[in-house]
Amino acid sequence: MTIQRERWSSKLIFIFAAVGSAVGLGNVWRFPYLAGKYGGGAFLIPYIIMLFVLGLPLLIMEFAIGQKMQLGAVGAFQKIKQKLAGIGMAAVLCGFVVVTYYAVIMAWSLLYMFFSFKLSWGADTESFFFNQVLHLSGGAGDPGQIVLPILFALVAVWIMIYFSIWKGVKSVGKVVMITMPLPVILLVVLLIRGVTLPGAADGIIFYLKPDFNALLDLAVWRAAASQIFFTLSLAFGIMIAYASFQHESSDISKTAIITSLINSTISIVAGFAVFSTLGYMAVQSGVSIADLAGASGPSLAFIVFPKALSLMPMAGLFAVLFFVMLISLAIDSAFSLVEAASTVLCDNYPHLRKEDISFYVCVANFICGIIFTSFAGLYYLDITDHFITNYGLVAAGLLEIWAVVHFYGAEKLRAYINEVSDIKIGRLWSITITYIIPVLLLVLLITGLVQDISEPYGGYPQWALFCFGWLVLIMVFTASFLFSHFAAKSREKEEKTL
Ligand code: PHE
Repeated sequence: MTIQRERWSSKLIFIFAAVGSAVGLGNVWRFPYLAGKYGGGAFLIPYIIMLFVLGLPLLIMEFAIGQKMQLGAVGAFQKIKQKLAGIGMAAVLCGFVVVTYYAVIMAWSLLYMFFSFKLSWGADTESFFFNQVLHLSGGAGDPGQIVLPILFALVAVWIMIYFSIWKGVKSVGKVVMITMPLPVILLVVLLIRGVTLPGAADGIIFYLKPDFNALLDLAVWRAAASQIFFTLSLAFGIMIAYASFQHESSDISKTAIITSLINSTISIVAGFAVFSTLGYMAVQSGVSIADLAGASGPSLAFIVFPKALSLMPMAGLFAVLFFVMLISLAIDSAFSLVEAASTVLCDNYPHLRKEDISFYVCVANFICGIIFTSFAGLYYLDITDHFITNYGLVAAGLLEIWAVVHFYGAEKLRAYINEVSDIKIGRLWSITITYIIPVLLLVLLITGLVQDISEPYGGYPQWALFCFGWLVLIMVFTASFLFSHFAAKSREKEEKTL
């Protein structure tokens, strides 16, 4: 007897779930801080180019593979060729790493939701965030202790994530009907507030004015490429898992175009909200926008937004709404990561209950995330994020492409996509995934390696970069390789005994 695969209850729900996964902290937290770090307008051009050259073609590919194979990432690649199972595993493990720190950022947001009632951050939002919330230590070598409020908030976040997915696709379908549209509405409200502040224009000019010199800096291109992977939830096995719950004849290209356009529009709008507020902060504090944006890095959203919120009439209310937005924005991304892992486990162990599988995945994730709640948590988080997005995702993406192009056939997949989709894609798509993207990713990967070896990322000590960066990557890829190897062995054995 074959077990019926779970299904989305409608086409719209699938789009909501895919957009829900894509739109997350990456849009409101990561995109603006990268734009700030790489000089505002300088970042936008590579970002948009990468969206069309890299993001959209790969999203189409992942949707197509999941839908065609009707399996999560591991099963899908295994179906292409037994030995390739590890590629799906690498993607899922990268996702596992991301969600451990992603949930910690959600935990900060949850705490901020409570601070909002009284606007506890006061005038100096920066010092509040670093000193009172994170208890940030002097450096990576000084982990201090665990910050208990963050730890408790992290537990609460994991409970919320678990209950969003415990019933699989059915509960996900219900939750995303709220968590997808709500944050978008709230973001528009914040945008209106941001652009009506004095100094907003300067911030927006900084954000939009292209700096063509920066285009010569490969680091900007690398950041744009990895941001596209992150923001579209590519190379995590998520979009493959989600598409596997579609019927085999569902549209692919239109859904991919809608998902990627909504996602990037939200990032760009969030950028307007952040930079107009930065413009205001620059006027108030006399510090230049570039300095403000560059200095705060990953903390940007937690420093700039609270400041902006305090300036609004009915500040408390808007502040609560904002953090509710951030959490609701993030939760569907977070559970999509857990879904990717539990889909793979369910495909492999169909006799286990999905509820139990998801529970264990959540617990394992929580435990791994505890390290990020220490006094040095922000440093560790920054390092892990850098390595997993710049190398882990890019490498997993490259492997996925290699598998599809060499073992399945780009043209064969294109024929399938065009058979089921309203919008037909041309040969250019096959050329892009066969030649352009692999070359591009290889160049970015190698130049990134050279850069990271010659100059320690973020000035962190070598041991920290090794433990939270390289070692994590080594573990992800070794585990995937071993998995591939043993899965193939046990399959051979099974076949022999038959
Ligand atoms: N796409 C999500 C975001 O931009 C992040 C994410 C990454 C979600 C990977 C799931 C998987 O926030």
